[in-house]
Amino acid sequence: MRNISPQSMLIAATLSVGITIPAFAHIERSEPLQSLRQSFFALVGMTFGPMGDMVKGEIEWDEAQFAAWADDLAAVSSVSVERGFAPGSDKGKTRAKPAIWENPEDFAAKLADFRREAAALSVAANSGDKSAAIAQFKQTGGTCKACHDNYKSRGYLY
Ligand code: HEC
Repeated sequence: MRNISPQSMLIAATLSVGITIPAFAHIERSEPLQSLRQSFFALVGMTFGPMGDMVKGEIEWDEAQFAAWADDLAAVSSVSVERGFAPGSDKGKTRAKPAIWENPEDFAAKLADFRREAAALSVAANSGDKSAAIAQFKQTGGTCKACHDNYKSRGYLY
Protein backbone atom coordinates (compact mmCIF):
# COMPACT_ATOMS: atom_id res chain seq x y z
CA MET A 1 0.00 0.00 0.00
CA ARG A 2 2.88 2.34 0.71
CA ASN A 3 3.61 2.91 -2.98
CA ILE A 4 0.03 3.73 -3.95
CA SER A 5 -0.71 7.45 -4.13
CA PRO A 6 -3.87 8.86 -2.53
CA GLN A 7 -5.04 9.87 -6.00
CA SER A 8 -4.87 6.35 -7.36
CA MET A 9 -6.64 5.04 -4.25
CA LEU A 10 -9.39 7.62 -4.83
CA ILE A 11 -9.73 6.52 -8.45
CA ALA A 12 -9.85 2.89 -7.37
CA ALA A 13 -12.51 3.69 -4.78
CA THR A 14 -14.51 5.64 -7.36
CA LEU A 15 -14.34 2.81 -9.87
CA SER A 16 -15.21 0.13 -7.34
CA VAL A 17 -18.22 1.76 -5.67
CA GLY A 18 -19.17 4.48 -8.10
CA ILE A 19 -19.17 7.15 -5.40
CA THR A 20 -16.74 10.05 -5.35
CA ILE A 21 -15.21 11.52 -2.21
CA PRO A 22 -16.95 14.92 -2.72
CA ALA A 23 -20.03 13.20 -1.27
CA PHE A 24 -18.51 14.32 2.03
CA ALA A 25 -17.94 17.91 0.91
CA HIS A 26 -20.72 19.19 3.19
CA ILE A 27 -18.35 18.86 6.13
CA GLU A 28 -16.93 22.29 6.86
CA ARG A 29 -13.24 21.70 6.25
CA SER A 30 -12.18 24.97 7.86
CA GLU A 31 -13.82 23.99 11.18
CA PRO A 32 -13.80 20.19 11.37
CA LEU A 33 -13.28 20.07 15.15
CA GLN A 34 -16.14 22.43 15.86
CA SER A 35 -18.31 20.30 13.57
CA LEU A 36 -17.27 17.14 15.38
CA ARG A 37 -18.21 18.39 18.84
CA GLN A 38 -21.40 20.14 17.68
CA SER A 39 -22.51 16.96 15.90
CA PHE A 40 -21.80 15.00 19.07
CA PHE A 41 -23.91 17.36 21.20
CA ALA A 42 -26.64 17.57 18.56
CA LEU A 43 -26.99 13.78 18.82
CA VAL A 44 -26.94 14.04 22.62
CA GLY A 45 -29.61 16.77 22.57
CA MET A 46 -31.82 15.10 19.99
CA THR A 47 -31.83 11.91 22.05
CA PHE A 48 -32.19 13.46 25.49
CA GLY A 49 -34.79 16.03 24.31
CA PRO A 50 -37.55 13.58 23.33
CA MET A 51 -36.87 11.57 26.49
CA GLY A 52 -37.64 14.78 28.39
CA ASP A 53 -40.87 15.20 26.44
CA MET A 54 -41.85 11.72 27.58
CA VAL A 55 -40.93 12.43 31.20
CA LYS A 56 -43.05 15.62 31.11
CA GLY A 57 -45.95 13.71 29.56
CA GLU A 58 -45.87 15.75 26.36
CA ILE A 59 -45.63 12.52 24.46
CA GLU A 60 -47.07 9.24 25.66
CA TRP A 61 -44.84 7.09 27.87
CA ASP A 62 -43.39 4.25 25.84
CA GLU A 63 -41.00 2.16 27.88
CA ALA A 64 -39.32 0.48 24.89
CA GLN A 65 -38.81 3.77 23.07
CA PHE A 66 -37.49 5.48 26.20
CA ALA A 67 -35.02 2.62 26.69
CA ALA A 68 -33.94 2.77 23.04
CA TRP A 69 -33.19 6.50 23.36
CA ALA A 70 -31.34 5.89 26.61
CA ASP A 71 -29.24 3.20 24.89
CA ASP A 72 -28.46 5.65 22.06
CA LEU A 73 -27.52 8.36 24.56
CA ALA A 74 -25.13 6.03 26.38
CA ALA A 75 -23.59 4.92 23.07
CA VAL A 76 -23.17 8.49 21.81
CA SER A 77 -21.75 9.62 25.14
CA SER A 78 -18.91 7.11 24.79
CA VAL A 79 -17.66 8.68 21.54
CA SER A 80 -14.35 10.44 22.20
CA VAL A 81 -15.53 14.03 21.75
CA GLU A 82 -12.36 15.20 23.49
CA ARG A 83 -10.54 15.53 20.17
CA GLY A 84 -13.20 18.06 19.14
CA PHE A 85 -11.82 20.34 21.87
CA ALA A 86 -8.18 20.20 20.82
CA PRO A 87 -6.04 23.28 21.58
CA GLY A 88 -6.75 26.08 19.10
CA SER A 89 -10.30 24.93 18.35
CA ASP A 90 -11.79 27.62 20.59
CA LYS A 91 -12.21 29.77 17.47
CA GLY A 92 -14.89 29.83 14.81
CA LYS A 93 -18.65 29.43 15.07
CA THR A 94 -19.07 27.90 18.47
CA ARG A 95 -20.91 28.14 21.78
CA ALA A 96 -17.94 26.61 23.59
CA LYS A 97 -16.60 29.12 26.12
CA PRO A 98 -12.86 29.84 26.40
CA ALA A 99 -13.11 28.61 30.03
CA ILE A 100 -12.98 25.04 28.67
CA TRP A 101 -9.38 25.49 27.56
CA GLU A 102 -8.54 27.29 30.83
CA ASN A 103 -9.94 24.45 33.02
CA PRO A 104 -9.32 21.25 31.06
CA GLU A 105 -9.36 19.00 34.13
CA ASP A 106 -12.68 20.29 35.40
CA PHE A 107 -14.18 20.07 31.91
CA ALA A 108 -12.96 16.45 31.60
CA ALA A 109 -14.47 15.66 35.02
CA LYS A 110 -17.85 17.06 33.95
CA LEU A 111 -17.71 15.00 30.77
CA ALA A 112 -16.94 11.91 32.86
CA ASP A 113 -19.91 12.68 35.17
CA PHE A 114 -22.18 12.87 32.12
CA ARG A 115 -20.91 9.58 30.68
CA ARG A 116 -21.32 7.78 34.03
CA GLU A 117 -24.91 9.02 34.50
CA ALA A 118 -25.85 8.32 30.86
CA ALA A 119 -24.62 4.73 31.26
CA ALA A 120 -26.68 4.42 34.46
CA LEU A 121 -29.69 5.88 32.63
CA SER A 122 -29.49 3.13 30.03
CA VAL A 123 -29.53 0.54 32.84
CA ALA A 124 -32.43 2.23 34.66
CA ALA A 125 -34.45 2.68 31.45
CA ASN A 126 -34.14 -1.03 30.70
CA SER A 127 -35.02 -2.10 34.25
CA GLY A 128 -38.79 -1.86 33.81
CA ASP A 129 -38.95 0.52 36.79
CA LYS A 130 -40.44 3.76 35.44
CA SER A 131 -39.78 5.86 38.53
CA ALA A 132 -36.14 4.72 38.62
CA ALA A 133 -35.81 5.61 34.93
CA ILE A 134 -37.27 9.08 35.51
CA ALA A 135 -35.07 9.69 38.57
CA GLN A 136 -31.99 8.74 36.61
CA PHE A 137 -33.11 10.91 33.68
CA LYS A 138 -33.13 13.90 36.05
CA GLN A 139 -29.77 12.90 37.49
CA THR A 140 -28.33 12.83 33.96
CA GLY A 141 -29.91 16.18 33.11
CA GLY A 142 -28.05 17.66 36.06
CA THR A 143 -24.75 16.76 34.39
CA CYS A 144 -25.73 18.64 31.21
CA LYS A 145 -26.55 21.72 33.25
CA ALA A 146 -23.40 21.47 35.39
CA CYS A 147 -21.26 21.65 32.26
CA HIS A 148 -23.36 24.16 30.29
CA ASP A 149 -23.51 26.60 33.23
CA ASN A 150 -19.75 27.08 33.05
CA TYR A 151 -18.75 26.09 29.57
CA LYS A 152 -21.50 26.74 27.01
CA SER A 153 -22.85 30.12 25.98
CA ARG A 154 -26.47 30.50 24.95
CA GLY A 155 -25.62 32.20 21.70
CA TYR A 156 -22.59 32.03 19.48
CA LEU A 157 -19.61 33.90 20.88
CA TYR A 158 -18.02 34.85 17.60
C1 HEC B 1 -18.71 18.34 29.59
C2 HEC B 1 -19.54 19.40 29.12
C3 HEC B 1 -20.89 19.15 28.53
C4 HEC B 1 -21.82 18.21 28.90
C5 HEC B 1 -21.75 17.17 30.01
C6 HEC B 1 -22.97 18.40 28.03
N1 HEC B 1 -22.73 19.43 27.16
FE1 HEC B 1 -23.96 20.09 25.72
N2 HEC B 1 -22.51 21.31 24.99
C7 HEC B 1 -21.32 21.55 25.61
C8 HEC B 1 -20.56 22.53 24.84
C9 HEC B 1 -19.19 23.06 25.17
C10 HEC B 1 -21.35 22.87 23.73
C11 HEC B 1 -21.02 23.88 22.63
C12 HEC B 1 -20.26 23.21 21.48
C13 HEC B 1 -19.90 24.21 20.37
O1 HEC B 1 -20.74 25.07 20.02
O2 HEC B 1 -18.77 24.13 19.86
C14 HEC B 1 -22.58 22.06 23.85
C15 HEC B 1 -23.61 22.11 22.95
C16 HEC B 1 -24.81 21.46 23.11
C17 HEC B 1 -25.91 21.53 22.18
C18 HEC B 1 -25.92 22.30 20.85
C19 HEC B 1 -25.35 21.38 19.76
C20 HEC B 1 -25.26 22.03 18.38
O3 HEC B 1 -26.08 21.70 17.52
O4 HEC B 1 -24.34 22.87 18.18
C21 HEC B 1 -26.92 20.78 22.70
C22 HEC B 1 -28.31 20.53 22.09
C23 HEC B 1 -26.44 20.21 23.95
N3 HEC B 1 -25.16 20.63 24.17
C24 HEC B 1 -27.19 19.39 24.77
C25 HEC B 1 -26.66 18.69 25.86
C26 HEC B 1 -27.41 17.75 26.66
C27 HEC B 1 -28.88 17.43 26.48
C28 HEC B 1 -26.54 17.23 27.58
C29 HEC B 1 -26.78 16.19 28.62
C30 HEC B 1 -27.60 15.05 28.30
C31 HEC B 1 -25.26 17.89 27.36
N4 HEC B 1 -25.38 18.77 26.32
C32 HEC B 1 -24.13 17.65 28.11
C33 HEC B 1 -20.86 20.97 26.76
C34 HEC B 1 -21.48 19.91 27.43
